[in-house]
Amino acid sequence: MAHVRSLFFKGPLADVENKAITAFKLGRPSDVIWNITNRCNLLCDHCYMAADAHACPDELTDEETMTLVDQMGERGLPALFLSGGEPMMRRNFWEILEKARGYGIRVTVSTNCTLVDRAAAKRLKANGIDWVATSLYGPDDFHDTMVGVPGTRRRVVEAINVLREEGVGVAIKTAISQATWPHVYDLIQDARDLDVGLIYFCDLITAGRSEGEDDGRITAAQWRELADYIIEDLIAGQESGAKGMEWDIGAMPSFIPYVAERFMERGIDVSNGLERLKTISACPVGKGHMNINSEGGIMPCQFAQDWTIGTVRDMSLQDAVAELYKLDLQESKGVCSPDECEYSRICRGCRAKAWQRTGDPMAEDVTCLLHADADRSALAGQIEATPEFVRSAPCSVPGSC
Ligand SMILES: C[S@@+](CC[C@H](N)C(=O)[O-])C[C@H]1O[C@@H](n2cnc3c(N)ncnc32)[C@H](O)[C@@H]1O
Ligand code: SF4
Ligand code: SF4
Repeated sequence: MAHVRSLFFKGPLADVENKAITAFKLGRPSDVIWNITNRCNLLCDHCYMAADAHACPDELTDEETMTLVDQMGERGLPALFLSGGEPMMRRNFWEILEKARGYGIRVTVSTNCTLVDRAAAKRLKANGIDWVATSLYGPDDFHDTMVGVPGTRRRVVEAINVLREEGVGVAIKTAISQATWPHVYDLIQDARDLDVGLIYFCDLITAGRSEGEDDGRITAAQWRELADYIIEDLIAGQESGAKGMEWDIGAMPSFIPYVAERFMERGIDVSNGLERLKTISACPVGKGHMNINSEGGIMPCQFAQDWTIGTVRDMSLQDAVAELYKLDLQESKGVCSPDECEYSRICRGCRAKAWQRTGDPMAEDVTCLLHADADRSALAGQIEATPEFVRSAPCSVPGSC
């Protein structure tokens, strides 16, 4: 996750990101993505969770979910994402949400929106939900084929309209692949037409029902083309003072130094973004970010479900954070290592992709957008010239910052 506008400029998520950075500095969990169930009423052919009609056999009990929310609240968790499967299919979805909100946790619901009707939209609004993040992949036939259920896209668009009418913010998420690429710019236009404030583009994760589909990823050149489009949108927004779209990028952390370089070339001040990246890198693995699956398994990243560090049944959230911090103390390898990449500590490369490709989470990220480029000196100069620049690793020991 990398909110590009909020990172470099004063975007809509700057405040919550600041809270996450503070939580990390205090040695607390900064954000949790919780797949509260693996059950789903759709059957997307790319689903990294391989979700279907069945719950996982050892799903957390309702009582266990309540205890977990208590831990989150007591640890002052700033941000919680309720995901799945389809989170709204979990029997105590509303109980989890309302309890988390009772603690003041900022909750984002990541849903396919098929269960969002007017009453649900009102209830989400009443609970102070700022964002509902829902998936769109392309035009009607394409979307419906991708999710395996006819008529789904029409229902999603209806739900988006209802949510907007009720004053709930909507984010559109899409998996970027060779299949969805032809629809990306139309999707951006759809988002604008639907009054959506955030688009999340995530590189295809080759796990679950996408396992082994590395050829399904788009190329670095295609990612750069998309980045260049987003850069122009951000610059136009800065110049006009318009509110503008927030762009969130998943599983492609090198997108951030790529954007910073282009801004530098255009004479745009990137010091705000760099300052934040010194603490929380473009890949947040090891920085208080964690994933919890429906059976309570704790993962450094939701996209690597077999990379577990424990379970909430025998590990507290606080112990999990301490364990995850150990990852931040390790250097990335290969093209992502500090010797080979001047952005090593602010980017880190995608650790989930490294894990999936090699079994070593610190291995190089072969999908880096920058590695092939010869001249990357502009941003490197900026980093070295910043006297207060410190690698984030020493800060990762709670209390040392
Ligand atoms: C697993 S779903 C859970 C929430 C909800 N059921 C939904 O589909 O929006 C969360 C997001 O992950 C995305 N996703 C699923 N499989 C993916 C993959 N292999 N690569 C990238 N994103 C993926 C989906 O497109 C969706 O936007
Ligand atoms: S991507 Fe979401 S909607 Fe699609 S099968 Fe997976 S959990 Fe269900
Ligand atoms: S490992 Fe990859 S997908 Fe996971 S948080 Fe880091 S960049 Fe994102």
